Amino acid sequence: MRFERSHTRKAAVVAVASSLVLLASACGGGDDGGSSNGGGSAGALEGRGPITLASGKDTSGNLQNQLNAWNASHPNEKVELKELPEDADAQRQQMVQNAQANSDAYSVLVMDVVWTSEFAANQWITQIPEDKVPDLGKLIPATVETAKYRDKLYGVPITSDGGLLYYRKDLLTKAGITDAPKTWADMVAACQKVQALPEAKGMGCYSGQFEKYEGLTVNFAEAVNSAGGSIVDKDGKPSVNTPEAKAGLDELVNGFKTGAIPKAAITYKEEESRRAFQEGKLVFLRNWPYVYAKAAATDGTSKVAGKFGVAPLPGKDGPGVSSLGGHDYAIASSAKNKATAIDFINFMASEARQKANIEKTSQAPTWASLYDDAALNKQFPYLAPLKASIEKAQPRPRVVKYGDVTAAIQQAAYDALNGKVAPDKALADLQTKLQSLITQ
Ligand code: GLC
Repeated sequence: MRFERSHTRKAAVVAVASSLVLLASACGGGDDGGSSNGGGSAGALEGRGPITLASGKDTSGNLQNQLNAWNASHPNEKVELKELPEDADAQRQQMVQNAQANSDAYSVLVMDVVWTSEFAANQWITQIPEDKVPDLGKLIPATVETAKYRDKLYGVPITSDGGLLYYRKDLLTKAGITDAPKTWADMVAACQKVQALPEAKGMGCYSGQFEKYEGLTVNFAEAVNSAGGSIVDKDGKPSVNTPEAKAGLDELVNGFKTGAIPKAAITYKEEESRRAFQEGKLVFLRNWPYVYAKAAATDGTSKVAGKFGVAPLPGKDGPGVSSLGGHDYAIASSAKNKATAIDFINFMASEARQKANIEKTSQAPTWASLYDDAALNKQFPYLAPLKASIEKAQPRPRVVKYGDVTAAIQQAAYDALNGKVAPDKALADLQTKLQSLITQ
């Protein structure tokens, strides 16, 4: 947790007035232009009847309720859930296979925000005319950007995601610490005080998600961005071979070396790390907003209900930078009943549905006004730090070969965290790989 250089982080986001307004295009780097086709054309959204929704495992437990609400009023156009695995890479693989087989088994795809360029360029998803999505202007602009490829819309953002720092407020208070840490150094110092308390004996300091999967790309990108670096620069060119990126990776590598990050964390995805926090094994946890509802549950499933707080992610010299997460609903090109599909997507994007969802699950809505809703803010104190997290969030590279790009990032970060490859070599090799994958 030492860093050689200080620097000023680029101001990448401009918040306008009190609403959530973001300039995503200023910070994400464009697409790589690696494909000669311009993406799927706007096919007619025709055909009515039953549809399916292909979604990653619903850890929120509320998705079927949302679908039931649609099904109750659309008896001849029911949506059936096709549940895919929990990890994002495995979901992507199944969706790609489905598209390559030209199958109509999946009508609507719950797409991770990072897949849009790849799916659009390969014409696996259908372009959606903007006038078919009446509420588009009400959604957080950065989330809408995630659903675009070459300025055309290929999906509708249904959930957003921003990383949050969950912390044991009870233990920090006992240790005489009043505020959540804003820097990594403060976080480690806070841990040392907390871990000296008898009730914190054996607790780990901090974890994020460090298994080799998409979550590692998220956590690596956050470490790099929170140290002032970037994965790609503002022109979309790879930029991981820099002192700033090394400072970010070093933070994680040193965390494992010193034990501030427990060894077991190398096997953690979202759910494993959530459970460790809920079982009282961690002082600090980086995770998404869905964890709030689960950790706050008072039905006996969480040992930390009433004992934790939520803050923005810490960084090297001040507040950190989250990766922009979330999910867009897209229509598979090979799907039948596309007229039903777009109506269903609009239903799920509506303010009423998004409000119903946040009330049950604490997932991040994409509807901007919900972040300023006084009653919701009272009920869900994580909404303010979440808004701050999403406002400053950085997109992962928007590139057609995203599957290969994320695999390269995961390998480099994993090898460095495991002590197999020195961080500077891992980053130099990664730079070379990314340069071959992201061509201008
Ligand atoms: C969450 C985010 C998604 C991210 C994934 C990584 O589901 O919404 O964008 O890629 O976590 O595990």
